[in-house]
Amino acid sequence: MDKVIRSLIIKGIRLNVTNNKAVKYGCKKFHTSSTHAVELTSVRYPKLKRGNYSRVTDSDIALFERILPGAERVITDPSELDGYNTDWIKNCRGASQLLLKPKTTEDVSAILKICNERNLAVVPQGGNTGLVGGSVPVFDEVIISTLQMNEIISLDELSGTLTCQAGCILGNLDNYVSEYNLTMPLDLGAKGSCHIGGNLATNAGGLRLLRYGSLHGSVLGLEAVLPDGEIVDCMSSLRKDNTGYDVKQLFIGSEGTLGIITKAAILCPQRPQAVNVAFLGVDSFSSVLEVFKETKKNLAEILSAFEFLDTETLRVGTDNLKMSSPISNHPFYVLIETSGSNSAHDEEKLTQFLEYMMTSGKVLDGTVAAETSKIQHIWNLRERVAEGLMHDGYCYKYDVSLPLLHFYDLVEDMRERLGDKVTRVVGYGHVGDGNLHFNVTTPEYDSEVMGLIEPYIYDWVAKYKGSISAEHGLGFKKRQFIYHSKSRSAVKVMKNIKQILDPKGIMNPYKTLPDD
Ligand code: FAD
Ligand code: MLT
Ligand code: ZN
Repeated sequence: MDKVIRSLIIKGIRLNVTNNKAVKYGCKKFHTSSTHAVELTSVRYPKLKRGNYSRVTDSDIALFERILPGAERVITDPSELDGYNTDWIKNCRGASQLLLKPKTTEDVSAILKICNERNLAVVPQGGNTGLVGGSVPVFDEVIISTLQMNEIISLDELSGTLTCQAGCILGNLDNYVSEYNLTMPLDLGAKGSCHIGGNLATNAGGLRLLRYGSLHGSVLGLEAVLPDGEIVDCMSSLRKDNTGYDVKQLFIGSEGTLGIITKAAILCPQRPQAVNVAFLGVDSFSSVLEVFKETKKNLAEILSAFEFLDTETLRVGTDNLKMSSPISNHPFYVLIETSGSNSAHDEEKLTQFLEYMMTSGKVLDGTVAAETSKIQHIWNLRERVAEGLMHDGYCYKYDVSLPLLHFYDLVEDMRERLGDKVTRVVGYGHVGDGNLHFNVTTPEYDSEVMGLIEPYIYDWVAKYKGSISAEHGLGFKKRQFIYHSKSRSAVKVMKNIKQILDPKGIMNPYKTLPDD
C-alpha cells in the first residue's frame, strides 16, 4: 500500500513523496492474439520478389526431426505457425511452413549447415517482440526460434558477469541477478517476452540506456553460429581485451543477418538500493527540455531515466488501457527515475530539486513515488504505450533520433499533415537519449496515410541529420531508407561483411540491408 510520508504544497501545487525502497519490476508476458486480419507481407508489397531459395521438402523435415528429437521442436502445423509468422505489432505476416527449436549451440550449427547446403533461407526469432518486421519471415523462410535455449550458465558475483543462452527472457534474467544484488543493464516494456539474444541482435536501447549505456559496452562475450554452421567463440568475457578486431560487436545490432547469437556474457551493474520515480506535468516541450537540463545538473549521478509523454500519449493509457493518471492533465509529462545506494540522500536531493522546479514554475504538478507498486504504476503509464496504441487498430511506428531542439517539431508537423485522416498522432520516448517515438494510429492499415508518412518522415529526419532508427533497427520495414542515415561507403562495407559471412544470403533475407 502506498504510504504518503510527506505532502508538500508549493505554490498551491501538490507534491507527494511516498516511502519505501527495493524495487522489483514485474514482467508482462505478451501474447499474439488472432492474426487472421494481418495481410501477408508478400501481398502488401507485391513488387518484392522471393529470392532464389529452395523450398522445404518432406525429407528436409525428416532430417530436422532427427537432429531435434523430442516433442515440440519441429513445428509444421499451420495454426501453430501463425503466431510465429506474424509480428507483435501486426504489421507483417510471413508464410513459413517450418519452425525449428534448437536447445544447444550444436543444434543451431547442425540446422544452419543443412539450410546453407540446401539453400534454405532462415529467420532467427527470439521473443518476437521486434517492431520493424525483422523477426518474422517475408515469404517462407524457416523460422529458427531460441525459445528452448533458455539456460543460465553461470554468474560471476565478483565481476557481475552473467553468462547465459540467447533464449533467456530478459525479465527472468533480471529476476535471477536481483538475487545477487545485480541488475540487467537494459530494461524495456517487452521484458516479459523478449530474449537476450533478440536484445543483442537489435542492440535494444530501452529505459536504462541513459544510465548504463548501450549493449555494445555491456556485452563482454558472445557466441554466434555462422550460416555455414561454424561456431564463432568470442566468449572470453574480459573487461579489457584489445587483441585485434572486436568481432562480437558485429553481431550486436545485426538483426539476424550475419548469424545466430547462441550465448552471451553480460556485465551486470550493482542493483540500486534506492529507487524514486517522479511524474511531472509541464506546459510545453521547451519546458520538458528545461527540466531535462536542470535534472542533469541537479540529480547528476543518481539520474537513471528521463522519459517524456505528450498529453495524447497519456490518453492512450487512460482511454485504451483504463489506467489512471497520478496527476492532473497537462500538455506534457516527464518521468524521472533516480537510482542510488542511499534512500535518504536520494529522496532529499530529489525533493529539493522538485521544490525548486515547482517554485520556479518550470513544473506545474507532480508526484514522487518510492514505493514499489506506485513506481510500477507510473512506469506502466510509460512502458505500456506500445500495447495501448494497438487498441486503436493499426499502428505506424517510428523510432528516430533527432537533435533535442527539433525533437517535438516533427510531431507537430505530422499532426498538421495528417489532420483527421488518422485516429491519433503521439510523441513520447527516451528524451534523455535524444530518441523520439513517433506513432500514428488508424482503425486499419491505410495506404493513403502510409503515403503521407513515408518517405516524408525519413526526409524530415535526414534534414536534421538524425537517425531513422534510434533503437528498433531497420528490419524489413525500414531497410530501403538506410541511406537517409548512413553513407554509401558505410553501407558498402556492411554489404561486404554480409557477403563474406553469408555468401548465399540465407540469413534473414529482405532485412536490414537495402536491395541493390
Ligand atoms: P525478436 O523480435 O524475436 O527478433 C528481433 C530481431 O533480432 C530479428 O531481426 C531477429 O531475426 C533477430 N534475432 C532474434 N534473436 C536472434 C538471435 N539469437 N541471433 C540473431 N538474431 C536474432 N526496443 C528497444 O530498443 N527499446 C525499447 O524500449 C523497446 N520497448 C519495447 C516495448 C514493447 C512493448 C515491445 C513490443 C517492443 C519493444 N522494443 C524495444 C522492441 C523489441 O522488444 C526489441 O527489439 C527486442 O530487443 C527484441 O527481442 P526479441 O527477443 O523479441 O527479438
Ligand atoms: C518504448 O520505448 O516504449 C518502445 O521502444 C516501444 C515503442 O516504441 O512503442
Ligand atoms: Zn523505446
